[in-house]
Amino acid sequence: MTAPLTAPERAALIATRRDLHAHPELAFEERRTAALVADRLEAAGYRPRRGVGGTGVLADLDGGAPGPTILLRADMDALPLAEESDAPYASTAPGRMHACGHDGHTAALLACAERLAGRRGALRGRVRLCFQPAEEGRGGAERVIADGALDGVDACFGVHLWTELDVGRVGLAEGPVMAAVDRFEAVIEGQGGHGAIPHQTRDPVVAAAHVVTALQTIVARTVSPLDTAVVTVARVTAGEPGSWNIIPRTARLAGTARAYGDETWASLPARIEQVVRGVAEALGCRATLEYERICAPTVNEPAMTGLARGVARDLLGPDAVATEGEGVRTLAGEDFSAFLRRVPGCFAFVGGRNAARGLVHPHHSPRFDFDEDALEHAVRLLEGVALRYLGG
Ligand code: NI
Repeated sequence: MTAPLTAPERAALIATRRDLHAHPELAFEERRTAALVADRLEAAGYRPRRGVGGTGVLADLDGGAPGPTILLRADMDALPLAEESDAPYASTAPGRMHACGHDGHTAALLACAERLAGRRGALRGRVRLCFQPAEEGRGGAERVIADGALDGVDACFGVHLWTELDVGRVGLAEGPVMAAVDRFEAVIEGQGGHGAIPHQTRDPVVAAAHVVTALQTIVARTVSPLDTAVVTVARVTAGEPGSWNIIPRTARLAGTARAYGDETWASLPARIEQVVRGVAEALGCRATLEYERICAPTVNEPAMTGLARGVARDLLGPDAVATEGEGVRTLAGEDFSAFLRRVPGCFAFVGGRNAARGLVHPHHSPRFDFDEDALEHAVRLLEGVALRYLGG
């Protein structure tokens, strides 16, 4: 069991989180954040590597005796969103906000690093601290991995503060806990003309409407009911603003596809293309599809998940660990998946919701915030998993 945070440790943790919250930085622009992290690591006796994968920071804690290496990861980036908050630590950067809790992840891993520094030379193995840039759909994980973050690493662990779970609870499930995220955009090309003379046109609006409907059958009729997937069309555009009697030449659709299982994930691009092109063609139009993989499914390895559950139960009590249901799995995505595809590991949801204090807003909402008691849970979970993995 790790020791509770001392009052000064707790005060420093909250102050760091609030400082980062007030100064949010977007993907690959986390210069102030990374400098704060690296300076503090240096002060704690680490020799941090700056500029990893762009704006990331890596530092190793050498245990002193031979043993495995476990990587602990925090993401540092904020979102392009205007914060709606009266909090004294609200964002000072217009149009930028820590609306996903990454400020808390960075502060928690930094506090964990400072606590672990006292064990330098007294562990079997090594702890690698990874402060990753650009988690929000910009490929930061792949960038730091390409820059050596996983070299010599045997296992990995990360946390996400989570307002789908009450503070004091931790979500830890084996297998897929977050989905693969894909993005697609389709252009449906027809032939424009007068709204009163449709037979002389090839109407891309009607074709787009049929495509949107037909896309719903992918999950309903081609994905196994025992697997999980989502196909969402989030944007439909056609015609000029103000037009009402003109059939346009093109219509555009944009959306996202999500899956847990690798087989389903692999099948989605071809299936979506087949539906988009086939339906458009049947209605006299022509369609092209642009398809992009954003991240892989986040899949927790059973042994590491069991280890993390043990730490969480010791920390917060046997009933605090949720293994099923809301707050434990989500079809949102997370690029920690890139680490988990290469080494065994686990990603935990640390409850941050507190309805009595109005801390109930979803991630990526302009009113997002979490109960700061969750920060200490995150610190001790990161620390506890590392120490237990290294046999400490
Ligand atoms: Ni996030």
